[in-house]
Amino acid sequence: MIDVSSEQQRELHPTYPIRTERLRLRPLTPDDVNALLAYRSLPDVCRYVPFAPMDRQQVLDRMATIWANTGLTDEGQALTLGVELAASGALIGDVILFWHSREHLGGEIGYVFNPDHAGHGYATEAAHAMLRLGFEGLGLHRIIARLDERNGASANVARRLGMRQEARLVHNEFFKGEWSTELDFAMLAEEWPSHRELPAGRR
Ligand SMILES: CC(C)(COP(=O)(O)OP(=O)(O)OC[C@H]1O[C@@H](n2cnc3c(N)ncnc32)[C@H](O)[C@@H]1OP(=O)(O)O)[C@@H](O)C(=O)NCCC(=O)NCCS
Repeated sequence: MIDVSSEQQRELHPTYPIRTERLRLRPLTPDDVNALLAYRSLPDVCRYVPFAPMDRQQVLDRMATIWANTGLTDEGQALTLGVELAASGALIGDVILFWHSREHLGGEIGYVFNPDHAGHGYATEAAHAMLRLGFEGLGLHRIIARLDERNGASANVARRLGMRQEARLVHNEFFKGEWSTELDFAMLAEEWPSHRELPAGRR
């Protein structure tokens, strides 16, 4: 999985599925379309994310483009993985790792889950696996999470991961018809070892 032998060769090619205590993470496939639509078409799920409720064609379009990535070979790319319950194989959400900068070794995580599976710590457990990929797989120095202040559930995920809140940008974006205040969270590679294991109740 790890290939950081030189800066030019820095790439991420995970072995799938990535297993956590209760989940499996793997690239999305056309068989996931209905499960993705079940939550990515919901206005409540999309309220604070940078996309509108999706229809089948939009899901298929993403499947054929950005979601087709199974690894990261350069900055500017993103890796989206589907999250399935190990017990049933049901797809319950998706997580993303952006590689923003090769020079600054910067990345970002994001997460979108089906509300039918909220409240079990699954998003935190899956996002934690993406931090692990970013720090241990790609060798990033710093990973951020950015969210709308009103998205308390998302801020709680970032806090449970051990990310530090670094900034509160008041009304910095006119987002979906209203001003949004952004909270910025971050974790550095040197902080990762302290958060490498999710304590019980934070998974
Ligand atoms: C953000 C989002 C993923 C958070 O979902 P979530 O269900 O709150 O998060 P988790 O799956 O990590 O579950 C955490 C909850 O499970 C509880 N929990 C239950 N069992 C648990 C366990 N074994 N381990 C950890 N937490 C557990 C936690 O206490 C927590 O509950 P609380 O929020 O009432 O304190 C979800 O709200 C979502 O998809 N929103 C729409 C998309 C979005 O806004 N994404 C973020 C964009 S920035």
